[in-house]
Formats: sequence, C-alpha cells, structure tokens
Amino acid sequence: MKPILQSDPGAGYRAAQAQIDAAVARVLGSGNYVLGQEVTGFESEFAAWLGAPNVVSCANGTDALVLALRAAGIGKGDAVATVSHTAIATVAAIEMTGAAPILLDVDEATFTLDPAELGAVLAAPPPGLPPIRAVIPVHLYGQPAAMDAICAQAARHGVLVIEDCAQAHGAQVAGRPVGLWGAAGTFSFYPTKNLGAFGDGGAVATNDPDLAARIGALRQYGWDRERLAQLPGVNSRLDELQAAILRVKLATLTRDNARRAEIARAYDRALGAGAPARAADRTHVFHQYVIRRPDRDRVQAALRDAGIGSAIHYPAPAHLHPAYRGRVAVGPAGCRATERLVAEILSLPMHPHLSDEEVARVCRALEAL
Ligand SMILES: Cc1ncc(COP(=O)(O)O)c(C=O)c1O
Repeated sequence: MKPILQSDPGAGYRAAQAQIDAAVARVLGSGNYVLGQEVTGFESEFAAWLGAPNVVSCANGTDALVLALRAAGIGKGDAVATVSHTAIATVAAIEMTGAAPILLDVDEATFTLDPAELGAVLAAPPPGLPPIRAVIPVHLYGQPAAMDAICAQAARHGVLVIEDCAQAHGAQVAGRPVGLWGAAGTFSFYPTKNLGAFGDGGAVATNDPDLAARIGALRQYGWDRERLAQLPGVNSRLDELQAAILRVKLATLTRDNARRAEIARAYDRALGAGAPARAADRTHVFHQYVIRRPDRDRVQAALRDAGIGSAIHYPAPAHLHPAYRGRVAVGPAGCRATERLVAEILSLPMHPHLSDEEVARVCRALEAL
C-alpha cells in the first residue's frame, strides 16, 4: 500500500504545476530577480487576503521576527517573553536581536501561551532579568493563542505584542485575523507551511505604517530611497521566484485551509473523546493536527506499520535544547506542562492534498488503536 506522508510539499507543486511553471518562466525571462514586481504584487495580495494594511516580505520567518522586534526598538538590554513549546526559531530570533528570552509555559488544552503565567511574570519578573519589553505568543499548529487575555495583560504592563503566525496563515480570534492583534505578526513560507514557497520566505504584517517602513529599510541594508543606510540593516529579501510561486499558491489558500479543517473533522470523528481541544471563538487552520497519547511511541509504531507517517512537533522544549539549557530564563512554574506534553504529542498526516481515501485509511487506523 502507498505510504501516507505526514506532510507533502511536492503535492502542492503537482496540484498547480502548470501555473507554477509559468510563474517561474515569467520571472526567469523578466531579467529581474530581487525586489521587483512579483514581490510587490505578492505583498499587496497577501495583505488583502489577510486584511492587513501593511505587509513587508523578507527571507524567512525567523528574520520576520527579528525584523519586527528590531523595528520596534527591542534589542540588547531588553527581555522578550515567549513559550518554550515552539519551533526553536522563535527563541533564536529573540537572541538574534540581542534581547534575552524568557520561556513560559503553555495552556495544555490549546498548546499555546498561558495568559495567567504571562500575567504573573509581568507582575513579578524574575530577579536579574532585563525588563520584559515584548511578548511573542505563538499560534502553534494553527490554533490561535488567547489573544484577548494576552493583549490585556500586555497592555496593563506596557509590553509590546508580536505574534508568531508562522503556522497560522488565516487563523482568527473572534473574527479578527491573527497577526493584527498587536504591533506586528510574522509569517513563514517554509515549504510545509499552510502557505509554502519552494524555498524560504517570510513576511511581517502590521497596522503601523511607520513600523512597516522601518522593517522595509532594515531588510535591505537600512537603505532609504537614495540608498543611504539610515539604519544598521541586514539583507533579508524575499526573491522574485518565491514571490511569484507564492502568488500562485495564495490563490488556493482559503480552499486549502478549508480542506485541512475538513480532514481535521474526519480525524475528530475517528478519535471521539481523544480528539484535540479547540478553543471557542478561535479559528484553527490546522497547520498540524496533534494528538496527545501517553502511549505515543506505540501509537506511532502502529501507524508506521499501517504505512502512515507521523511526526513530533517538537520532541524537546526550547529550554531543554543544549544551546539554551541552564542559560535562558523560564517562567515561575518551570514549564512543567510543556515538559509533560512533549512526551505525548504526535502530529498526524495533515496537508490539503490528502485524498479522501487516504484520510479514510488514517481514520481506520485511529479507530483500531
Ligand atoms: C512557530 C514558528 N516560528 C518561526 C518559524 C521560523 O520560520 P522559518 O523556518 O521560515 O525561518 C517557524 C518555522 O519553522 C515556526 O514554525
């Protein structure tokens, strides 16, 4: 039986091969490969799709966080709070600005930042930590964090909110898109993401035109229109080829997210009470469908025997990676929920090109567990 892949970016190419090949040929023939009309076109089309007044693209989702933080004035001498249960890129980005991360625990039902822990840490920051100037909630797996409660805590303590939306293109809280709740929202277009390029890409969305202008300058050597560096910048540009490909894929993103939700509903039915929780009033876009099982290794082996791929996102909490262990600050409760759940999580096959037959096969395997 044909194996079912946990994720399959190649299927995204095959599904739109003619349009993608035409877009690539258009760029190659244009003679313009960096920051041209494909990038401008993609930025305005993605902004319209999100409902964001400003979108600035860049080289990847890690840089998107760095650029947003730096443009907001965060750096050396500041601390930035985020969760330990995230892609390590979130933590790496904070340190790339010179700021110190403090890693907090998640709410176990939604795998996202626990607003109560954020409130506690802002009210009584750990001694020796620089002042916490920003918080990065991560909309992990495509489920939004509790943005209303998080923004309320941040506002109370005068702390900036930058949302990590790398896994959550199109997710909403109370009908409002993630990425627009705080100062900025950052996106990754890594190939497996809900909107994926065939290489690297990233973007920052913001309501603030001045912040957008600073990010636009920082991503290209800090240049102004006369190519004078007004800020100490970097090179973090989205290239024309990826932008042209992203324009093709953006056209089906709404449909692709709907297909992910449909697959999630089928898995929910197969799992019954074991299905993952959804918070009311938050639209989950299912970058991943993650179950929690104390017998996770047995479940993964049973799925493998049935030809079904699965993955663990992520096998170690950020505060226990060798690069950070014992060095980065953690929240007052010590990230205990995070440490419990990483031993039990398993990501099932999830991408919009799974066939009905493949979904039915996964459901049968889940029912037989
Ligand atoms: C939550 C999260 N943040 C940040 C990133 C970094 O994005 P990129 O790999 O495009 O640098 C990723 C993707 O890997 C991610 O999943």
